[in-house]
Order: sequence, then structure tokens, then C-alpha cells
Amino acid sequence: MDERAKPLLQALRGNAIWPPPIWLMRQAGRYLPEYRAIRGKAGDFIALCTTPELAAEATLQPIRRFGFDAAILFSDLPLLPWALGHGLTYREGEGPVMPPLRDAKALAALDRARVPGAVAPIAETVHRVRAGLAAEGFADCTLIGFSGAPFTVACYMVEGHGSHDFAAARLMAHGDPTLFDQLIALLTDATIDYLSAQIDAGAEVVMLFDSWAGLLPPRLFRRYVVEPTTTIVRRVKQRYPNVPVIGFPRLAGAHIGGYAVETGVDAVGMDTGMDVSGVARIVPAATALQGNLDPMALVAGGDAMRGEVNAILGPMRGRPFVFNLGHGIVPQTPVEHVAALVELVRAA
Ligand code: CP3
Repeated sequence: MDERAKPLLQALRGNAIWPPPIWLMRQAGRYLPEYRAIRGKAGDFIALCTTPELAAEATLQPIRRFGFDAAILFSDLPLLPWALGHGLTYREGEGPVMPPLRDAKALAALDRARVPGAVAPIAETVHRVRAGLAAEGFADCTLIGFSGAPFTVACYMVEGHGSHDFAAARLMAHGDPTLFDQLIALLTDATIDYLSAQIDAGAEVVMLFDSWAGLLPPRLFRRYVVEPTTTIVRRVKQRYPNVPVIGFPRLAGAHIGGYAVETGVDAVGMDTGMDVSGVARIVPAATALQGNLDPMALVAGGDAMRGEVNAILGPMRGRPFVFNLGHGIVPQTPVEHVAALVELVRAA
């Protein structure tokens, strides 16, 4: 099939194809028994992300099972700080843990020059997934590369671990803006290097996860979310004019319209709390929308899920749209519910 005819690429180029393409954030993961098997084999989560054979396998597993329209590179957001030389470990059930970055000395220890070498195994995964998709007959499936957006990556680095409010990072943004500006500037450049490596290896679309964007007040949202994203989109498009960029400014609420217009992203991801009709009114009609089923509706399944799916599909018909969740799939998700969701969307 002609590359331009892939459903996800069509939607991201502004075509209101129907039924819409579907993929799910965190579609590779612990809800899949075959993922748990290779996770056990790899031992360490960083080893899983940086062993191309295993990471490519994890990327392909959900495609084989569900025939999604996109595969998303199996890696993780804190691998960018790791590539910059920042410490990273994963603790069971806790997610990523890093040394908290709180001063100029810690910032000076980060080394952008390390990134291309450190991410070489991740680029190799991308290469293998493209080859695997072709070899296994998934001609319609588009490969998405990704990075955390600078603000969200900075949240984890400054805090040192996951959080619901990232108080230390927000305090640095207000209280030591010079240091925070420098961190965001470094992460902006490093993100461009990282995404470029993925695109050079075969990623056809890239996505920026700004999972904590909505924690910021308006002026800081502009400075630490909109401005770095605009720079990344501009520089990626200068180098790769045909590679669409999806931005996911989670929890951004009413800021999503300005984000869509100013950053120049090809698509915006809507989180679970967003009213899709309201978003459709404030985002330009040529910008694709992506989202936003509540991951818990997918756990519930049945009529509850069907009702939520229809509430999303109705207003999205006639728009460039990509069906997805409003946040990542959770480990307790029944595999049969994912298959049922794909059927529902395919029958739209
Ligand atoms: O399938 C995919 O979507 C591709 C792989 C992917 C992972 N993480 C794998 C993962 C992607 C795109 C991410 C993005 C990511 N990682 C984000 C942005 C999206 C979001 O969820 O807001 C963030 C904030 C992270 C950071 C992160 N990684 C956390 C907070 C955790 C712990 C929570 C959890 O679910 O365990 C992780 C770990 C992680 N990332 C796992 C996977 C499959 C689980 C690790 C394991 O198998 O033990």
C-alpha cells in the first residue's frame, strides 16, 4: 500500500477518514501476558527499553493481537534524562526514580553530546519495528516515535520521582526561573536530537507527551509548554517536513486551543476530562484530534464502555480524528475489552 494511504497518516494530514484510526497509549504493557513474559526475561526495565530485540518485540505484541493502526515505540519517558547522563532506576510498583535535580551543578553534569550514542539502541529498535511491521504484513500500521516534552521531563528530573503535583518542579519554575529556563532549553535541544534519531531510523510520526502541562498557571504554561513545543515542532519540521507531530498537553483544559494554534502540531491529544465538542470548537478544523476514552471505561467494558465510545465518536465524525484513550492503559485492563473496543471503533 502507498505510504500516504495509511489511515493514521491520512488523519494526521487533516482528512476526516471514517471509521477513524485507532491506537492506545501504553498499548504495550503489563495487561498483556506476552509483555509480562518478556518483562520477566529482561529483568531490568531499562534493559528492556535498550535491548532492541526485546523492545521491538514489545512494540509489535499489541499490533499482532489487535491490529491497531499505529505501533508506538516501546521505550519510556525518563530514557531522555538517562541519555543525558542523569541517573535512573525503576523500583517495583513505583515507576522511575532519579536523583532530584535542584542546582546548577546538577544541571551542568548533563551532557547533550551523550544523547546520540546513548539512544542508538532505541533507534535500532525503531529500525527493527519498521522491518517487523513490513515482514509481518502490517502494511497499514504507522510507527510512532515519542519523547516526553521538556516540561514533563523536567518535572520528573527536579522531583526525582513521580508525583501528583510536582511541587518541587513548579517551585523551581517560580522561584529559580533562570535555572529552570536553562533546564528547559537543554531538554528542548535534546528532545530535537532524540526525535531526529528516531525519525532517521524510521519513525513516521512523533508524539510529545506533556503529561503534566496542566499543572502550570497561564504565563508559565506559555513559557514552559507552548514555547518549547513550538521550537521543537518548528525544528523537526525544518528537517522532516512530512513527519506529523502529535502534542499531548495533558490537563491543559481551555489552553488546548491556544496550544494547537501556536505550536503548529498536526494533532492534539485530548485527556479524559476534556469535552470533545468543546475542544472541536477551539482547535482549527484541519488539526486532528486524538483521544480520549477514560482508561477505566475500558476496564469496565460492556455498556459503560460503549456509551463513552459513542459519546466521543458522535461529535468527532466529520473531523480528522484518531481514537485513543485519554491517558495510558492500566495493568488491570482485560484483554478482551481491548479487542471489543477495536471492534466498536471499526464499526463506527
Ligand atoms: O505502549 C506504549 O505506549 C509505549 C511505551 C511507553 C511507556 N511509557 C512504557 C512504560 C510510553 C509512550 C510511555 C510514556 C510515559 N512514561 C509517560 C507519558 C505518558 C503518561 O503516561 O503520562 C510518562 C509520564 C512515563 C513515566 C513512567 N514510566 C511512569 C510514571 C511509570 C510508572 C507507572 C507504571 O505504569 O508503571 C513508567 C513505567 C512504564 N513505562 C511501564 C511501561 C510499560 C511499566 C514498567 C514495567 O513494566 O514494570
